[in-house]
Amino acid sequence: MSPAFVDWCDEYKTGNAQLDRQHQQLFEIINKLYELIERDYRTDFLKDTLDRLIKYSVEYFNTQEFLMSSYQYLGFDEHKRIHDQLKVKLKELRENLETKQSSINAEILDFLNQMLLTHLKEEDLKMIKFFQEKEDSSTAELTKLRRTKLAINSYYTRNMLNRQKKS
Ligand SMILES: [Fe+2]
Repeated sequence: MSPAFVDWCDEYKTGNAQLDRQHQQLFEIINKLYELIERDYRTDFLKDTLDRLIKYSVEYFNTQEFLMSSYQYLGFDEHKRIHDQLKVKLKELRENLETKQSSINAEILDFLNQMLLTHLKEEDLKMIKFFQEKEDSSTAELTKLRRTKLAINSYYTRNMLNRQKKS
């Protein structure tokens, strides 16, 4: 059995359970596709796996787009444009699988490399970092807010006790 095409590691974790689950599933399908190609598998299995890659990629892109919009990610338009290009390329690969059998394996591997190296490992990580920074700053804001609230409460409690002592 050939080594995995890509390994999941903590670097890809976003802290968002849905996104992390989809990302891991995507890696599993990519590794399966790579294994089938390496073994020169030319059956419906390859088509089914490519169909799964398309389905899960679209779901993963949709989740990212929803989160980018929720977090007001500045690179949203550019990131979505890349997703759209990847979707077009995936559709093209699926069509080519039916017609150009001789070069399709190389085409798929080339796409996996392009998709992983330039997107999952670069743009997606940039986006994930942005989400984490935003989460960290909201947590810091929340802590500041809680501290202020506590300070106000203790100020009023102290004043109330002082008033009770005087009366
Ligand atoms: Fe993405």
